[in-house]
Amino acid sequence: MAKARKNGLYTGISEELSALMRTGWADTERHDLTPDPQAPYAARRRAALSARFPGERLVIPSGNLKARSNDDTYPFRPYSGYVHMTGDQARDGALVLEPRADGGHDAYCYQLPRDARDNDEFWSGYTAELWMGRRHSLAEAETVLGLPCRDVRTAAADLAAAAGTVPTRIVRGVDPALEAAVTTDEDRDDELEEVLSELRLIKDEWEIGEMRRAVDSTVRGFTDAVGELSRAVETSERWIDGTFYRRARLEGNSVGYGSICAAGDHATIMHWTTNDGPVRPGELLLFDAGVETTTLYTADVTRTLPISGTFSDVQRRVYDAVYEAQEAGMATVKPGAAYRDFHEAAQRHLAARLVEWGFIEGPAERAYELGLQRRFTMAGTGHMLGLDVHDCAHARNEEYVDGVLEPGMVLTVEPGLYFQPDDLTVPEEWRGIGVRIEDDLLVTEDGHENLSAALPRSSAEVEAWMARVAG
Ligand code: GLY
Ligand code: MN
Ligand code: MN
Repeated sequence: MAKARKNGLYTGISEELSALMRTGWADTERHDLTPDPQAPYAARRRAALSARFPGERLVIPSGNLKARSNDDTYPFRPYSGYVHMTGDQARDGALVLEPRADGGHDAYCYQLPRDARDNDEFWSGYTAELWMGRRHSLAEAETVLGLPCRDVRTAAADLAAAAGTVPTRIVRGVDPALEAAVTTDEDRDDELEEVLSELRLIKDEWEIGEMRRAVDSTVRGFTDAVGELSRAVETSERWIDGTFYRRARLEGNSVGYGSICAAGDHATIMHWTTNDGPVRPGELLLFDAGVETTTLYTADVTRTLPISGTFSDVQRRVYDAVYEAQEAGMATVKPGAAYRDFHEAAQRHLAARLVEWGFIEGPAERAYELGLQRRFTMAGTGHMLGLDVHDCAHARNEEYVDGVLEPGMVLTVEPGLYFQPDDLTVPEEWRGIGVRIEDDLLVTEDGHENLSAALPRSSAEVEAWMARVAG
């Protein structure tokens, strides 16, 4: 008898059961698969990566399952750099670029192959295919990815054996076993992650299509959520959260980040994802959410809605100031503009309003130079968007925040004003109000396209939208 699992109801596996389980299985190898449409794009991305590191071995793992408790695991989400370079989403994988003498690289991909049926693990191990779903065979993965594939169970030994032949870099923090198998330098590994981030700054045509799909699903999710506002008033912020999540799961992989369903003064908490508060008429709902596509590209959109259908005077003053700041920011987004331009335009506008309202000391330009508006604006005004909600986060400053906009970049413009409930420097009526408006912009050849323009934005449009939904 094999050793029984602790607290399992079966005391063990008899020889007879073990033998029975090993026999009688059909050959289910798939011969109908075709290459992933993303494969040629991924090949071009790998060529760009290869050109940056001649003569060096590069290892880009996908990551492993993480235990939630005992034999339960968190949903697996691969490392975005691996997804970008392969189009693959498998766990326990790794892309290797092996240097050639001519300065280029041969790419191959380590994969966890299908479970053999000559032992008990294939049906008794909780991470086995029979418990978690079928994987590709190595031959199937080769067809789909357009890459030679190898068995990942020999990857650590292969990499250890090849150590010293050529300099190696690995993306750290993704797969501890592979990391332990190579000898690399932390600073040089960081450079690999920088380059992987920078290669995502400009989206290719296929990625732009996926960004559109992410935003379009997100628009449908917002429409669902607004339609369910009366149910949220009867229940809580969770109703909004669940309504959007259903759309995200139906059309995509999931949400691209924890949805922020922030009613009342929760709107002043930047990352309010607990979403367990009441939704009260008369207050605002700041709703920030994005669908992540099945290919793992995410949108990131915010609308701030008057729960009763109309803004109060103070709410409208705040809302319109944020709207104007967003307009000023978006107007700067075009090729050749400094990345910082949209941030500066929006922040200048908000600083001027805050001075006008008497909440910070003027003149407005001095307040802006000193950053005094930040008491109420808190965050930056946007970020790159793509496979990660805060995409390209490891890019060097000169390529990103100190860089210049180019066609194919996708970024958010999301100014906001947040008056904390305990802020004694503003009149009581303003306390607990938080407003953000966030859209996803594609930089085009001659300006930009607002991918999320289908959602109403101005205060009048938002009120008309709410009235239509309320019927
Ligand atoms: N939802 C996160 C952000 O807006 O950056
Ligand atoms: Mn957001
Ligand atoms: Mn954002």
